[in-house]
Amino acid sequence: MTTTVLELEKLKPKDLDAGLIFSGTASGKKIKGYATPNSYTPEINPEYIYHLSSRDVIVWFMNRSDPFYLFGPAGSGKTSLIKQLAAKLNYPVFSLTGHSRLEFADMVGHLTVDNGNMLFQYGPLSLAMKYGGLFLLDEIDLLDPTTAAGLNGVLDGEPLCIPENGSEIIMPHPLFRFAATANTNGGSDETGLYQGTLRQNLAFMDRFWLCEVNYPTPEAEEKLLSIKAKGLPEDLRKKMIEFANEVRNLFMGESTDFNDTIEVTFSTRTLIRWADLTARFQPLANQGIQPVTYALDRALGYRATKGTRSFLHELAQRIFPVTDV
Ligand SMILES: Nc1ncnc2c1ncn2[C@@H]1O[C@H](COP(=O)(O)OP(=O)(O)OP(=O)(O)O)[C@@H](O)[C@H]1O
Ligand SMILES: [Mg+2]
Repeated sequence: MTTTVLELEKLKPKDLDAGLIFSGTASGKKIKGYATPNSYTPEINPEYIYHLSSRDVIVWFMNRSDPFYLFGPAGSGKTSLIKQLAAKLNYPVFSLTGHSRLEFADMVGHLTVDNGNMLFQYGPLSLAMKYGGLFLLDEIDLLDPTTAAGLNGVLDGEPLCIPENGSEIIMPHPLFRFAATANTNGGSDETGLYQGTLRQNLAFMDRFWLCEVNYPTPEAEEKLLSIKAKGLPEDLRKKMIEFANEVRNLFMGESTDFNDTIEVTFSTRTLIRWADLTARFQPLANQGIQPVTYALDRALGYRATKGTRSFLHELAQRIFPVTDV
């Protein structure tokens, strides 16, 4: 028996108090999790700030539910949201990133040779179903729709049959959960920016509970930057968030100050990188170079067209006076 299986067989489900786990105040509302973390439980990020969409995810975790589909722009916090909440419940998470050549066997498992013997190696989906884990399929909209539709039975809560393993039948464990993340809602990409995403089968998408994850609120991002970029003055951090939100509006064609639209946007991931680089390039100020603009190019500007890049510089000159460093 592999160490993975031995460890997973020792998992002890436990009734936890949802309020106590997620807000620190007992609520009397029960949520099932596990007594202790194990090697598959994501590490708790002490700097994690609860996202507004946490509400949906917590309610989803509370009872056996339809599979969950989180969609939203790049770097808005979908994967971390699922993983951080799962970590609080000591859930084992088996994750996989979708792509167009991903096959059903990559999820279920395959035969391998071990000391001359054929051995079936469980894949992440089988492990989650068998032992009560969370199967997290990131970028699910990159899957070939016919592969995705092969999951319909599992999504309906049916047992999984593995012919290669002596036709083993895996009954879904009561704590098994299926969550997916994607940049589109499965109905194809309207922006043309998420290359490789595919319109998914309607019957497949019909099986999910959907949740849209947008960028965190300015207050949440301010809290995040105050942790990630402590060295920067509060006023500068606030302006960086204002700038990021202006870029997001320009990307969506919703800016109140400009008629233009641009082809890049500001994810929370990029915002953190920008703040971090601005702090690291502070010494450039002594050479007459503005660190905030220098870092902006490296965090985002170089990914944009030349026109957009110079527009971003203009916007930066407006929002960050030279004295802002
Ligand atoms: N609420 C938050 N608290 C702390 N960090 C966050 C939060 N939201 C996002 N982040 C950070 O932002 C980065 C991007 O988050 P994440 O990978 O979850 O985004 P995503 O929506 O899954 O992105 P993609 O669409 O590219 O898969 C991560 O480094 C994550 O730690
Ligand atoms: Mg992700």
